[in-house]
Amino acid sequence: MVSRMIDIRIPATSANLGAGFDALGLALNYYNYVRMEESDRAEIISLDGTVVPTDESNLIYASAKSLYEICGKDFKGLHIEQTNNIPMTRGLGSSSACIIAGLAGANRLMGNLLSLDEMVNLSAQIEGHPDNTAPALLGGIVTAVFDGKVVHWVKQEVHPSLKFVVIIPDFELKTEKARACLPTEVSHKDAVYNLSRAALFSASLLTGKYENLRTAVHDKLHQPYRMELIPHGREVFDIAYSLGAYASYLSGAGPSIMAIVDDENRYFTGKMRFSGDDIGLSSWQVKGVGIGKEGTTITEV
Ligand code: HSE
Repeated sequence: MVSRMIDIRIPATSANLGAGFDALGLALNYYNYVRMEESDRAEIISLDGTVVPTDESNLIYASAKSLYEICGKDFKGLHIEQTNNIPMTRGLGSSSACIIAGLAGANRLMGNLLSLDEMVNLSAQIEGHPDNTAPALLGGIVTAVFDGKVVHWVKQEVHPSLKFVVIIPDFELKTEKARACLPTEVSHKDAVYNLSRAALFSASLLTGKYENLRTAVHDKLHQPYRMELIPHGREVFDIAYSLGAYASYLSGAGPSIMAIVDDENRYFTGKMRFSGDDIGLSSWQVKGVGIGKEGTTITEV
């Protein structure tokens, strides 16, 4: 069999969108890239200099290998070249991007044995929740319920007049730590607080009632606890609102903070940058991003 080489492009993602904890997520238009080819051993190269494991513990490699095993196919090894644009442990879906790269790449190299729905299910089973993995595969904004086996999902498009500006701290926050700080139980009142806002968020975003977004991103399940782990986080939220953001929320498990603005607020990114500098956050990145409409794409080289 002639060995095939493929290029995989996987978007960054922003999960939760405030109140939609473990349920809502969107894909962004900046990407990790992975070149993959079957080989007789593990050969892993990081093209951008990011330090990644270069043995079988590499997340892309391990995810790909697991799919070969699930499908009962012989696996000898893979040649992987990865370009890691998505910053790691910043709440922008870097680990789901690796899982998706491995699964999607392996699936293509084996001749697309799994359907898109099966890929969505499997990636959520591996990652534990679907709000990063589903949009990374599907693109757009995704509403997802994972019942433990199957992801029930809807993908929708976000109006192009909306812009997303991500503010990325200069420190990491591991998802395990950001989940460990959450309470194991919540009150009925807090559950209602969140579910009503998550529903309002989706309906408002998709019908253009953007003035609701500020209320809709408030939550009582995760952000108040995680903000304690993010020095200057509250100031950044306040600045974003003072500069006219519709909404500001913690991206995924944090520590990155996302602001939603419309394209009439043209200088928001620059103003956010200057305001960050003023409060001593010049080492934080401020990046204007759009929605990744397509999700993961694969091309044959
Ligand atoms: N919904 C997840 C969380 C996203 O907030 O912990 C991170 O994987």
